[in-house]
Amino acid sequence: MGDLQTLVDNFQLPDTIGFGRLMAPVMFRAEYCDGIWSAGQLVPYGPISLDPAAKVLHYAQEVFEGMKAYWVDSETPQLFRPVENCKRFNNSAEFMCMPQVPEELFMSGVTQLTDICRNLIPRNSGASMYLRPFMFGTQADLTITASSSYEFYVIASPAEIYHAGEMRVIVERHRSRTAAGGMGVAKTGGNYAASMQSSKECMQQGYNQVLWLNSAVAGQIDELSGMNLFVVMDDELHTPELNGSILPGITRSAILELAKDLGYKVRERNIQIDSLLALIESGTCTEAFACGTAAVISPISIIADQGKEYPLPKVPGPVGQALYESLLAIQEGRVEDKYGWIQAVERQVQV
Ligand SMILES: Cc1ncc(COP(=O)(O)O)c(C=O)c1O
Repeated sequence: MGDLQTLVDNFQLPDTIGFGRLMAPVMFRAEYCDGIWSAGQLVPYGPISLDPAAKVLHYAQEVFEGMKAYWVDSETPQLFRPVENCKRFNNSAEFMCMPQVPEELFMSGVTQLTDICRNLIPRNSGASMYLRPFMFGTQADLTITASSSYEFYVIASPAEIYHAGEMRVIVERHRSRTAAGGMGVAKTGGNYAASMQSSKECMQQGYNQVLWLNSAVAGQIDELSGMNLFVVMDDELHTPELNGSILPGITRSAILELAKDLGYKVRERNIQIDSLLALIESGTCTEAFACGTAAVISPISIIADQGKEYPLPKVPGPVGQALYESLLAIQEGRVEDKYGWIQAVERQVQV
């Protein structure tokens, strides 16, 4: 363990950290074989050796999570709702015909890595250490059946807040990211691969996020490529209901709870894109924002659709801003967490 701690201690954080580019020099690794998980251990960060016929490379048997360790105003680093990430990870795994990762193993990976890398967690507000647990099928076999062997990793990335600032969103009218009855509820690589061509075209047109519509119900809003959507009308918060195509965001569920406690009415419902755009035009819809672990809450300045732009009048809007401040204050340990969302990571590693 001493050698791994030395790797961390010798690691210099650059002046500009960005999001998702800088990797901590240690990772957690466990293997699944014959129906049994190994205990898992911290190892130096480095390339993974895979058989070229490994199932993940051909049939995309892979799932992942995104979560953060914060260390701003708390005594120790703290995780935000990590057990929810574990539950969603295992729901994704079930969907992809992969084994469950026991909560104990998942949490051991996440907390051991956070602990040993604690000095790499940037301490300024908004920054954190992004944690990426992931699992994939390793069996070398080209038949289309579930892998018999798997590896589970957690890697860590000291990070600034993702995409802080205004978001310019464009509606995708032609392609679908996920299908009804498909993988939208799972956090699996294929969903993100399916979004990339549209994202590329969106950026070429001067926007920075794609708004996806449902593949089965014409005009129904699903979500953004990596975030859930909220809109505000008459001081009421509306967000698309969990319809089987949307990822059930942990930030989304926290916002629904927080908003009620801040005195806002919240509604989870089918939101039709045409009626939303009409409500923006008429001035009834006053703000929109995206939410997710990486960005927390990001205001949307424009929704563009079929050559027309619909600007939101309040950017950032007061509702999104109030929720952002309340949520980040809990995540960063600046206020009491009455929801039980925070899990402290005590010092475990012997140095
Ligand atoms: C497709 C998608 N939707 C929504 C979210 C937001 O989920 P969470 O708040 O749990 O990060 C994410 C990010 O994980 C995502 O990838």
